[in-house]
Amino acid sequence: MFSEIQGLRKEYRQASLNEAELQADPFLQFKYWFEQAVSAQLPEPNAMILSTVSASGAPSSRTVLLKELDSQGFVFFSNYASRKGREIAANQQVCLLFYWAELERQVRIEGQIEKISGADSDTYFASRPRGSQLGAWASMQSEHLASREALEQTLQALEQEYADKAIPRPPHWGGYRVIPNAVEFWQGRPSRLHDRLLFQIDGQAWRVTRLFP
Ligand SMILES: Cc1cc2nc3c(=O)[nH]c(=O)nc-3n(C[C@H](O)[C@H](O)[C@H](O)COP(=O)(O)O)c2cc1C
Repeated sequence: MFSEIQGLRKEYRQASLNEAELQADPFLQFKYWFEQAVSAQLPEPNAMILSTVSASGAPSSRTVLLKELDSQGFVFFSNYASRKGREIAANQQVCLLFYWAELERQVRIEGQIEKISGADSDTYFASRPRGSQLGAWASMQSEHLASREALEQTLQALEQEYADKAIPRPPHWGGYRVIPNAVEFWQGRPSRLHDRLLFQIDGQAWRVTRLFP
């Protein structure tokens, strides 16, 4: 078993990343790489790992979906009362990670998180399929659930309650925006001598440095 794992080895040869070709800021560079991930038809290129830290300093990670990149940051939606929501309320420093295996690329985004406006959350919630809207009401995300049946009964009751009505956004559900202060772009290279270019905010400007692989 372990010898099989040790034998899993891949050389990264597809591309390189250098200072001359880097976009002027990390938003533009992210958009450039993201568009390439979409064009390459990667499965869920907007899936990203969100890491949060509890009040006692314990980290936890989970996948969420990037839904918007606005002029300030990276937006996703979730349950504000979930484990991640509680950890975010205690500590606004978070990290996002994209790994696009097929492109041999990774992007790490570190920054501060905030809730988006209620109006913007309403707009996005209204665009979701009805099933997802009801799901947001049915799920007390991250709480202990007695059984699958209990969840399905809750859903049935909600379906009846909202049979002919528009479904409002639950108050515990909405968007978050991660405002980056550091973004690292990683491109795999042969012999583990990868390219790593790090944008760091310096006042209002972005400074770029290269890191050892
Ligand atoms: C591909 C994928 C996409 C997901 N997208 C979201 C999302 O956008 N928002 C969300 O709250 N949970 C999403 N989840 C579920 C989370 O990973 C996680 O299980 C859930 O948010 C509860 O996390 P928590 O208990 O740490 O708060 C996604 C999971 C996967 C595998």
